[in-house]
Amino acid sequence: MNFLDRLNIYFYHKDRNKKWPDNPPKILGWRDEESQLSRFRIIAKQHDFNHKTVLDLGCGYGDFKPFIDQHYDIAYYTGIDQHKAFIKEAKKRQLTASEFFDADFARDTLPKHDIVIASGSLNYHSSDSNYLVNMISKMYQAANDAVIFNLLNAKTFPEDTLLKSYHSEHVLAYCRTLSSDCYIEDQYSNDDFTVVLKKPKTHA
Ligand SMILES: C[S@@+](CC[C@H](N)C(=O)[O-])C[C@H]1O[C@@H](n2cnc3c(N)ncnc32)[C@H](O)[C@@H]1O
Repeated sequence: MNFLDRLNIYFYHKDRNKKWPDNPPKILGWRDEESQLSRFRIIAKQHDFNHKTVLDLGCGYGDFKPFIDQHYDIAYYTGIDQHKAFIKEAKKRQLTASEFFDADFARDTLPKHDIVIASGSLNYHSSDSNYLVNMISKMYQAANDAVIFNLLNAKTFPEDTLLKSYHSEHVLAYCRTLSSDCYIEDQYSNDDFTVVLKKPKTHA
């Protein structure tokens, strides 16, 4: 992301913080808490997270960590977000077996993890017209087992100057160039779909 892209996202969240100071899901950009949780539930259903390391790109306050702990015994969680205030709050929570970094995940090299997730963080416009494709490829390289991310659905979600939506069939077609084991889940929301991209299992 370039400086202007990052600045737009920064002011979007800063504005929402002013409007809803006591409502974390709203500050993060969600319609409400249920909107955030419905995405987490779908992500959690797509893979066995037990004993896995998880990389959460655009982690916000790190809410996925306590959520996934209710369902699985994960090995370790790493959250990355470029919004310093979110990372500061996430660190304050002192969540177990976790680490948080303030960084632009599109620019930095991603550390290898078993499962890479991105919930709500690939929905912003970027001046790089190949942003999504580059990110999918980058996430795939960083994952040992699976990549799971959601996107706004172009069929139902009208884009604005900040938020971008996508056609699931186009995204899936690209994912198929990386692995035949990929599919879309879109039954949980009108505005959104989840992409699941798994690595072929290697046999010793
Ligand atoms: C809609 S919020 C979702 C937060 C979190 N995934 C959740 O569901 O609670 C999207 C987050 O992605 C972050 N983000 C977007 N693009 C990013 C990038 N290139 N690098 C790091 N963080 C990014 C934003 O700062 C924002 O906190």
